[in-house]
Amino acid sequence: MKLTLALLLLLAGGSLAVAGDFPPVEKLPSHPGLPDPLVMLNGQRVKSAKEWNEKRRPELKELFQYYMYGSIPAGPKKLGVKVVRTDEKYFGGKATMKEIVLSYGESECPKTSVLLVLPNQRKRPAPVFVGMNFCGNHALVKDPAIPLPTAWIYGNYPGVKNNRATEAGRGTQIDVWALEQSIDRGYAVATFYNGDIDPDQPDRREGIQPHLARDRPGPHSWGTIAAWAWGIQRVVDYLVTDKDLDAKRIIVVGHSRLGKTALLAAAFDERIALAIPLQAGCGGTAPSRGTVGESVKQINDRFPHWFNGTFKEFNDKTDRLPFDQNCLVALCAPRPVLFSNAVEDSWANPAGQFEVLQAADGVYRLLGAGGLEAKKMPEPGTLVASTLGYYIRPGKHSMTRGDWKIFLDYTDKQLGKPE
Ligand code: GCU
Repeated sequence: MKLTLALLLLLAGGSLAVAGDFPPVEKLPSHPGLPDPLVMLNGQRVKSAKEWNEKRRPELKELFQYYMYGSIPAGPKKLGVKVVRTDEKYFGGKATMKEIVLSYGESECPKTSVLLVLPNQRKRPAPVFVGMNFCGNHALVKDPAIPLPTAWIYGNYPGVKNNRATEAGRGTQIDVWALEQSIDRGYAVATFYNGDIDPDQPDRREGIQPHLARDRPGPHSWGTIAAWAWGIQRVVDYLVTDKDLDAKRIIVVGHSRLGKTALLAAAFDERIALAIPLQAGCGGTAPSRGTVGESVKQINDRFPHWFNGTFKEFNDKTDRLPFDQNCLVALCAPRPVLFSNAVEDSWANPAGQFEVLQAADGVYRLLGAGGLEAKKMPEPGTLVASTLGYYIRPGKHSMTRGDWKIFLDYTDKQLGKPE
């Protein structure tokens, strides 16, 4: 009889299945409800923090890559870092601005242009938010010297012509990022355009992927969301080396598709201390098994490049997913996670997101990290600031200055107010 590697591991006392041995989708058992993150693929229950950390957490990371996001490669052997401009008198002297260009080895591989602002009048090192923006760093500040992105860009943003950024886009997203508000509260912010990593176009690969993945694309190779998460990790590679920043207080933030990415990045990277996915919905913070808002089939049909090929096999059988998004949240444990929502944004299924947090709570409790301290969804405008946090405000799908105020309040509570 031939023993598979999984069986060998099992006999050796472990129970971690390796990716190559995961069953085909049609052989996966049906779980109509959200799967318990504390039950291994082979049905064994996780009973200790040690088992969680050593067996189940690595297994879940493999499962998410294999069936949904695709495999995320390690960072380059040597990250290229160039600080191309520093301005210590930013925002009327309140902040220092650094423009940093990250490169990844191969000369043809796209580079990432990072805008970092950090407070001058506070004790350093400063805690730092990191997140991608939808239309270029130049849109977030009034500064004619910030370079325009050169990659393809969404057509619906101000100043974009023929899917390219133009001068007319400068300063058009100031209220969306409200950078000065974070500076005033003692936080640094690092941001970059998502298209610098991978322009968001179906079935096109103009970004970093072809330069980093050596294998030919297959059913388990990385989609755009995984590539973006990889990009966040590279910026974190830089942030942890910057002496002005507190490497222990890195907070990842993102809106919508970039919120899906923020949660994935935090789940896979323990250097990230706290995650704030805003209105992220399907494929991020909402249950894949949800019946409200966007479905797995809808997201795969409209955005075939976001996830791997295998995820499409779940279009009409989400009950067979061996995990749901509660397991992705659980991968962040014991670190705090805030789900933030808007009442009119039913596409992102705010109530389903609350259930996702409830179904991740067990892992947080096992690790002694608190959990979700609300039994039911709070009224709009009331922040649940527990380790698993939840917020919903009136209004539509958008990122606003008011949303940032909540991110800051929550982070102050969880990581301590900057001095
Ligand atoms: C679409 C998509 C969502 C996504 C959103 C966004 O609505 O269906 O999944 O979150 O775009 O990124 O704004």
